[in-house]
Amino acid sequence: MTLSAIEVNDLKKAPSIDGVLPVVLHRWSPRAFADREVSAGDLRKIFEAVRWAPSSYNEQPWRFIVGVRGSAAHDKIYSSLIGFNKSWAGKAPVLILGVASTKFSHNGSANGYAVYDLGAATALLTLQAAALGLATHQMAGFDHEVARQALEIPETYALGSVIALGYQGDPAALPSEDMIATEIAPRARKPLSEIVLAAWGEPAKLA
Ligand SMILES: Cc1cc2nc3c(=O)[nH]c(=O)nc-3n(C[C@H](O)[C@H](O)[C@H](O)COP(=O)(O)O)c2cc1C
Repeated sequence: MTLSAIEVNDLKKAPSIDGVLPVVLHRWSPRAFADREVSAGDLRKIFEAVRWAPSSYNEQPWRFIVGVRGSAAHDKIYSSLIGFNKSWAGKAPVLILGVASTKFSHNGSANGYAVYDLGAATALLTLQAAALGLATHQMAGFDHEVARQALEIPETYALGSVIALGYQGDPAALPSEDMIATEIAPRARKPLSEIVLAAWGEPAKLA
């Protein structure tokens, strides 16, 4: 059994919660990407959103290498992926690698929050993309050394995730039945009582 891209998109949406931003509810991470380019204008909007992310000391330690399909950067990022991710992510028209400077620019001391800040910026990236009707799928499954060498990333930068960006595609085009099954399965989350606490082990009382 499979579903169309539109049907699966509906199924993946988080339940509507009054007052929660619609993009938060409809963002999800597909593996099937349509054969459709992302416009340069949309890419710019996505990175403008990233630019306004908060960061420790306003360091803005993040840098994003953007590989549009057909470019050397796309090939290099793709070549660093583990086999499982290679099997689906090559269809994404844009592959992005997020990295963060681990040293503060004002005094060269260690910035222990660099990767945290990169994660915050990447969250904005995914939400701005969702607001534009685009899909993102982050990946930790890539070889850091292959990516670092191919893209000549200095040792003082920590690597975050590879982000596949594009338009959601038809699940039936995925390379395996298992992947199709995951693609059309409902999304699940821990309950608030497990993650929001009044004291250790004690759920906070929320409305
Ligand atoms: C840092 C990070 C690393 C991830 N690595 C992979 C990966 O290597 N391969 C993959 O298929 N999905 C990967 N994912 C996607 C997660 O599995 C997905 O975000 C999670 O299941 C929640 O689903 P949702 O994004 O649709 O809500 C990663 C996500 C994040 C945030």
